Amino acid sequence: MSKSSIGVLGAGRIGSAIIKALKTCMPEVEIYASGRRDETIQKASELGALVSKDNAYVVSNSELVIISVKPHHFPELYNQVPRELWSGKTVVSIMAGVKLSTLSKVLEGAEIFRTMPNINALVGRSATAIATNNDITSGKIFVEEVFQCLGSVYWVPEEYLDAWTSLVGSGPAFMTEIIDGLVLGAVASGMSRDIAYRVVLDMIEGTVKLLKELRIHPVEIRDEVTTPAGTTIRGLKIL
Ligand SMILES: NC(=O)c1ccc[n+]([C@@H]2O[C@H](COP(=O)([O-])OP(=O)(O)OC[C@H]3O[C@@H](n4cnc5c(N)ncnc54)[C@H](OP(=O)(O)O)[C@@H]3O)[C@@H](O)[C@H]2O)c1
Repeated sequence: MSKSSIGVLGAGRIGSAIIKALKTCMPEVEIYASGRRDETIQKASELGALVSKDNAYVVSNSELVIISVKPHHFPELYNQVPRELWSGKTVVSIMAGVKLSTLSKVLEGAEIFRTMPNINALVGRSATAIATNNDITSGKIFVEEVFQCLGSVYWVPEEYLDAWTSLVGSGPAFMTEIIDGLVLGAVASGMSRDIAYRVVLDMIEGTVKLLKELRIHPVEIRDEVTTPAGTTIRGLKIL
């Protein structure tokens, strides 16, 4: 096993995004990846991972193991890996809803972390929560470095993770639904879809920048642009 090696068990949507980010951010680290179908393996290989359908092979070659299968596939996965292989590994689960206590029971001897990134990892803008039960863990710095490759990192108590899953994990789907709604509204008013889409993204990006740079409450911006009997108050009333 090479010193710096990371295994991604389940190179699906988020697993592939992680591989892609790590290949750019940590080019010196060897990335191993698994999947069940030929297509999954092929895609991970094209991203530069060393691939196998054998999860035990990926775990044994990796210093840090990221579990990115769906939660209901986890029992199948850990039954495919001999128990002794987990010992001494740093294991990071990104599975929604699978608790640290459950992971510790089946991944004996591993240092265990739970994280919740989002798909914005594809452009290095995930906001990833990380939780662990242990105060002092030797893998902590490596875990943080890995997830910084995906964007910002927040160490949080485990009880935040369910809310984080809805807010941040699912958040990009909520935001894109809102964006599409705004674009359709503009199209209904006669604007071309192309211009509407670009201007909606610019408007949202500008609003985020304003809030971040001025460090003010969103309500202050709302009130600033809401004039008596104006157009904004009419829109707000409908919202
Ligand atoms: N998608 C997100 O935005 C997001 C965000 C945060 C967290 N998560 C979490 O990330 C996990 C994965 O989500 P996803 O959206 O990436 O799902 P996904 O696209 O379905 O990826 C899961 C992958 O796991 C593979 N897999 C299943 N069983 C396996 C096994 N026994 N051995 C090896 N590979 C196996 C599947 O391979 P095959 O396709 O070859 O069967 C699939 O590629 C979930 O637990 C989810 O809660 C997702």
